[in-house]
Amino acid sequence: MNVLLKELQAYHHEVAIKITQINELLRQLRHGSNDCSPLFKMLEALHGDAERHHHENEELIRLALLATDAPIHQRVKDIERDHQAFGRIAGQLKMLEDTTQETRVIADTIDDFIKKYYDHMDAEENIFFPVADKWLSDNQWQEIKRQWH
Ligand SMILES: [Fe+2]
Repeated sequence: MNVLLKELQAYHHEVAIKITQINELLRQLRHGSNDCSPLFKMLEALHGDAERHHHENEELIRLALLATDAPIHQRVKDIERDHQAFGRIAGQLKMLEDTTQETRVIADTIDDFIKKYYDHMDAEENIFFPVADKWLSDNQWQEIKRQWH
């Protein structure tokens, strides 16, 4: 597999570990804990520069792929929309942190977000990355690398 794709995959692996930790904190919240701050702290890690750069890098690859004759799966088309949605959800979660004390609402919203995120990573790893690996030319990879974050 292409080395840039491997880098994206390694990032996903790190995120999956964070999501496991977030799930554990959610479980505690549903079992009586009222302290949401560790959760929000964990979530911040999913909305930082690394995350933004990761999405930008994926978009470089996605746009290059659209320029090939590869058959484009609907899930690959949805990736751009997903990336935009995650930005929006990040803002909503931040707002939630400031406006509600209701742990059930917070837990449900975060749960929904990480389910979407997991599903998104799954589509990237099982559909998007293999197609990109198969179809992109060496020249395209070089051009992507030049713009890589
Ligand atoms: Fe990704």
